[in-house]
Amino acid sequence: MSVTAPALPSLLSDRSQAVVAATAAVVAAHADAITARFYPRMFADRPELLGVFNLANQATGEQPKALAASVVAYAVQLIDPAAPSFEHVLRRIAYKHVSLGIRPEQYTIVGQHLLAAVGEVLGDAVTAEVAAAWDEVYWLFATQLIALEARLYAASSVDPAQPLRPYRVVRRIEETADVISLVLEPDDGGERPAIAPGQYVSVFVDLPDHRRQPRQYTVSSTAVGTRLQITVRRVRGVGGAPDGQVSSFLHDQVEVGDVLQLSAPAGDFVVDPTDGPLLLASAGAGITTVLPIVEHIARTQPQRSVIVAHADRTAQDHALRETVLHVGRQLDDFTAYTWYETVDPADTRARSGYMDLTEVPLPANVQVFTCGPLPFMRHVRASLMARGVPASNIRYEVFGPDLWAAQATA
Ligand SMILES: Cc1cc2nc3c(=O)[nH]c(=O)nc-3n(C[C@H](O)[C@H](O)[C@H](O)COP(=O)(O)OP(=O)(O)OC[C@H]3O[C@@H](n4cnc5c(N)ncnc54)[C@H](O)[C@@H]3O)c2cc1C
Ligand code: HEM
Repeated sequence: MSVTAPALPSLLSDRSQAVVAATAAVVAAHADAITARFYPRMFADRPELLGVFNLANQATGEQPKALAASVVAYAVQLIDPAAPSFEHVLRRIAYKHVSLGIRPEQYTIVGQHLLAAVGEVLGDAVTAEVAAAWDEVYWLFATQLIALEARLYAASSVDPAQPLRPYRVVRRIEETADVISLVLEPDDGGERPAIAPGQYVSVFVDLPDHRRQPRQYTVSSTAVGTRLQITVRRVRGVGGAPDGQVSSFLHDQVEVGDVLQLSAPAGDFVVDPTDGPLLLASAGAGITTVLPIVEHIARTQPQRSVIVAHADRTAQDHALRETVLHVGRQLDDFTAYTWYETVDPADTRARSGYMDLTEVPLPANVQVFTCGPLPFMRHVRASLMARGVPASNIRYEVFGPDLWAAQATA
């Protein structure tokens, strides 16, 4: 799906520019306090939204941080013509929103509570002029997102009022002790949608405590044309934190024959149809983005050169390993590197320790796709940039609210 963000609208009004420039730092400094007021206010007013927001991201504070960082970064790039492009942040948010069925009218609700929270936290500093300037920022941002989301809904023929489709579990595969794959088929008589390799779906489940919760899962395989597969790592709570709700539910409760509610595929962590060489660098559950890309290249461009590099705790934790290698063998030029924190001495194919890309010969103009925990991806990016790979050749996917994109832009 090739939908690009609309060009930035004309900048803020002159009057608002000066006010935003003068107040951006104070808003940024109070961003956590503002979002700490915003979400409870909004959920009290609209409890139905509790079933759309990821409540663990609320508990850990990651989503409020991502929202605050994006609004401040948006304001900064409005007043600074030299600021880096904001397009990738817009696209990331818009895709996430459409996978959750966010609708234009909901922007009024969010705007009302967000701007009220700004007023509550900053008090008298919010004069009528300051309020008007930030209202303008919010609505410029909202207008761009609404426009982009409308185009994404249209491109995938999704009615935002009914963004989900039922899928039946036709197969359940125990990949490792902590990872399962669920193979799913549309259960409404319709066809499986087009899926670009690397895209995800939002899966909505009704938890045993009757709460409805969505989570995103990469479509890890489309090998069978009528089906899609997701691959789910069980998340265990550490240091007293609770076990992951949806991954535990999918592992413990979902069997062949059950029906899950899925969004249309979303996300732009997608390989371009050029013939440039690819490096797919993953760790842990990030392997779910590697298999669909290798499958796609095997189907459409088997002459394209692909290097896969994966890091995991042990071989027993390395999901989809044999499948990736099997599909990779269908390519003309495929190389696989593996690192395990603990290696079985009999495993001659794996290296010991953390991923070290200095050992990997890099073809000219390599395009990099990386997915794994944030520190891992920072390490991958830094070591590749040190070897001359331009930042624009490195794409990444965060399995949570993206706290990186807006920070990198700001
Ligand atoms: C684009 C995208 C693609 C993804 N693809 C995949 C994929 O292919 N495979 C996959 O396995 N995952 C994938 N994920 C991650 C997935 O969406 C879920 O985040 C993951 O399964 C965990 O969900 P959960 O409900 O099990 O855990 P949650 O209940 O969401 O918990 C998440 C974490 O928060 C902690 N937590 C929860 N509540 C609290 C609290 N009160 N205090 C402190 N800590 C708390 C939990 O201990 C846990 O560590 C993807 C995410 C994104 C955004
Ligand atoms: C200008 C307005 C808005 C901005 C700037 C904004 C920003 C964001 C950002 C930065 C994210 C995180 C994206 C990521 O995963 O990296 C996000 C996710 C989300 N947004 Fe928005 N948003 C806006 C409006 C809305 C509206 C109107 C709704 C509807 C209620 C909404 C609901 C959500 C939900 C449910 C998520 C996913 C949360 C999660 O998974 O934790 N947003 N938004």
